[in-house]
Amino acid sequence: MFPPSSLLPVNRRVLLGGLVAAPLVLRFGRAPAAGAYLFPLGVASGDPAPDGFVLWTRLAADPLAPDGLGGLSAPIPVRWEVAADEGFSHIVAAGEVVAEQADAHSLHVEVAGLKPGRPYWYRFTAAGQRSPAGHARTAPAPDAPVDLLRLGVASCSHWEYGYFSAYGHMADEAPDLTLFLGDYIYEYTVGGARKANTVRSYDLEEATTLAGYRNRYALHRTDANLQRLHAVSPCLAVWDDHEVLNNYSGIWTQEPGAGGSDFLKRRAAGYKAFYEAMPIRRTRLDSRLQMPIHRRIRYGRLAEFFMLDGRQYRSRQPCVDVAGGAQGQIMTDSACPDRLDPSRTFLGFEQERWLYDGLARSNARWTILGQDLVMAGLRFEKAGEETRYWTDTWDGFPAARDRLTQALVTLKPRNPVVLSGDYHSFWTNDVKLDSRDSASRTVATEFVGTSITSGGPPHDALMSYMPSNPHIKFFEGRLRGYISIDVTPTRMLTRYRTVSNVRDPKATVATLNSWVVEDGRPGAQPA
Ligand SMILES: [Fe+2]
Repeated sequence: MFPPSSLLPVNRRVLLGGLVAAPLVLRFGRAPAAGAYLFPLGVASGDPAPDGFVLWTRLAADPLAPDGLGGLSAPIPVRWEVAADEGFSHIVAAGEVVAEQADAHSLHVEVAGLKPGRPYWYRFTAAGQRSPAGHARTAPAPDAPVDLLRLGVASCSHWEYGYFSAYGHMADEAPDLTLFLGDYIYEYTVGGARKANTVRSYDLEEATTLAGYRNRYALHRTDANLQRLHAVSPCLAVWDDHEVLNNYSGIWTQEPGAGGSDFLKRRAAGYKAFYEAMPIRRTRLDSRLQMPIHRRIRYGRLAEFFMLDGRQYRSRQPCVDVAGGAQGQIMTDSACPDRLDPSRTFLGFEQERWLYDGLARSNARWTILGQDLVMAGLRFEKAGEETRYWTDTWDGFPAARDRLTQALVTLKPRNPVVLSGDYHSFWTNDVKLDSRDSASRTVATEFVGTSITSGGPPHDALMSYMPSNPHIKFFEGRLRGYISIDVTPTRMLTRYRTVSNVRDPKATVATLNSWVVEDGRPGAQPA
């Protein structure tokens, strides 16, 4: 989460979708309907490989049952089918799995043995009922040429701050892959004065338990636009902070002195619910309550995706105990030497090594890092003020960022492009070899997507710092939407798509502006 206006020295105050102490509004008690449809949460596919993909559904009779179990208890056998045609006349793979209570009756079917680079259709059947059909696609063979790959990039869909029309417009575009870069749900419920800015309520108390997190995902998946997007477009999903708790870092919360085993259990509940809700390959909590989700997906010769986890393995936010404050203080200045400590890590050293190994071996035309937080950096610097940094982004971990930018120079992966979320705003950035020096070499291009619905940062205040940040070529914090990208062998065309009004369920979509990255030339240019 970005800095609230209260931390920025301007007079203008903007109502933000920040974390607030939510009143505990309990409105549980939805009765399970007799003979209820078992697939009210839709279907999804993801993590494509040349010979298959993951198929997902979660059975539920009462999706928001207070115990988080969807109104089901007994194991339920489920048949899955993959067809080569939309009419399911030619079934090419099928099987039976059992949906169990331990995973809230979610299913992750890892289909293999299919042909590369082609569309498939899939569906589930359970207790005589059939799921909606979904569309999936295998990745092209690793050495196959690919002329065009269309991506949709989404982040930050707070249920209460708007309707998910942006997801509906993404579904209309039917991208080959949709990247979800975090804050797919929010753990908190809006209260107080900010409630005036909402269009609907979670009607759930703040998620802190497995049941609480499960029900957030379940509520989101009852949305017709989001269901349609998942049904038409395979996805690559990673998390940010709100899948667990605002601004947490590794095993620490942002509250001074907080964290420890209670938070670790809460984090594990959030992680398990994420796994249960997403079409990702099998992973699980280990004895340390960690759950690896970083992964590499190759899309023919055209692209290689590194989907990164920028939350789980991080060092603590620097200087939280020094600055204090009601929510902890993650805006630091030169009085925080901690920030510069080279032993601090953003990805965790294991994931860092995995990434560098992968970058060294990558030979695709485009190297795409899908991750949650702004990488290029933003110096809060102007005359008469001490320079400060918002430490929840890569700016809190400059030594780790230096290692990565140096690795991009040394290992020479082709055309690195970073896709980021979190900041509820559009940014077009040059990622510099030395983030302290805007004149240093550009080593990667970064596009930051705005939010699907969540409230934006203080736009005018942030704009006042842009003169000190010439590596940020474009910033817009007032609009909601998503990113649409066409990747071809010679160039990447990125469109910033905006919805007319998140308070309008029938909001229209438009292109704000477009950017081109040419093969062999880091840094985006206006299209
Ligand atoms: Fe967010």
